[in-house]
Amino acid sequence: EDPARVAEFEARIARDEFIEPKDWMPEAYRRTLVRQMSQHAHSEIVGMLPEGNWITRAPSLRRKAVLLAKVQDEGGHGLYIYAAAETLGTSREQMVDALHSGKAKYSTIFNYPTLTWADIGAIGWLVDGAAIMNQVPLQRASYGPYARAMVRICKEESFHQRQGFEIMMGLAAGTAAQKRMAQDALNRWWWPSLMMFGPPDDNSPNSAQSMRWRIKRETNDELRQKFVDVTVPQAEAIGLTIPDPDLTWNEARGAYDFGAIDWDEFYAVVRGEGPTAKERLKARNDAWNEGAWVREAATAHAAKRARKAEA
Ligand code: ACO
Repeated sequence: EDPARVAEFEARIARDEFIEPKDWMPEAYRRTLVRQMSQHAHSEIVGMLPEGNWITRAPSLRRKAVLLAKVQDEGGHGLYIYAAAETLGTSREQMVDALHSGKAKYSTIFNYPTLTWADIGAIGWLVDGAAIMNQVPLQRASYGPYARAMVRICKEESFHQRQGFEIMMGLAAGTAAQKRMAQDALNRWWWPSLMMFGPPDDNSPNSAQSMRWRIKRETNDELRQKFVDVTVPQAEAIGLTIPDPDLTWNEARGAYDFGAIDWDEFYAVVRGEGPTAKERLKARNDAWNEGAWVREAATAHAAKRARKAEA
């Protein structure tokens, strides 16, 4: 690559300018964006599955309407991010194909089962809470289309987080059985939520370069720590207990110390060995195959309209 162009690119990054689709960019920058953005889009789409599973079983019409809207939002987020990734020269087909064939990564968190209604609360509260923590700094990612997609996504995610917390608040203040259900969901979702932020900084191969390119503005560990610090008081406020005996407030750091994350579990789930990994991929593939007639009909309709417009 031409050193003068590289230098100009680096200078633009240093000035905090957005890089736009038609601007020159190093191939490695393009590749890392396609990697991260496609994984991110896949996560939004696969993330519809564990919650979609509960739409028919939501305990009231209000809860059903809210959950339906929330799951639909996640689908929209996936589409914005796929569209933003397409501006880098990759196609939707390539990305979707990589997901369906099991080659592409998506967030580990969506490979865990949703066993009770309280899991829907825990997902909104913790999983969407973690997603916001990670996505707020991405609004300032150096690639313009990615950063702009994040603005609306973050607004919607904050509703999602609150709907989840509201479910947990209701259950935690309910009968003894409801409170137990909420605590059980927190017990099962807490550690996987901490894993969402990715491997620790000293074991995160992409972080240093992504930070230099200002794609990532904060490291995996920094964001994980922030998430713990805001979430612990929320659990206390509704009388639930974070399942970590080592969790203690560290006065000197002004932050919580927390116990060791099971990184073996994380890497196993990244490798596709998560409890519901096969089920998720099968659901995506089935949806794609069963939706073929819709795509064909839409394509035929568009062609007919184009012919009419010409005539
Ligand atoms: N689940 C699956 N894979 C992960 C996870 C995770 N929770 N965390 C890290 N990885 C993967 C990375 O994708 C990377 O794999 P690759 O090199 O084959 O692409 C590898 O583990 C090493 O990790 P890092 O070097 O730390 O990778 P990176 O710098 O990309 O950081 C992170 C990972 C923080 C997830 C980053 O990609 C990111 O911020 N992505 C955008 C947010 C996102 O994808 N959120 C999805 C869940 S939220 C939601 O959908 C509601």
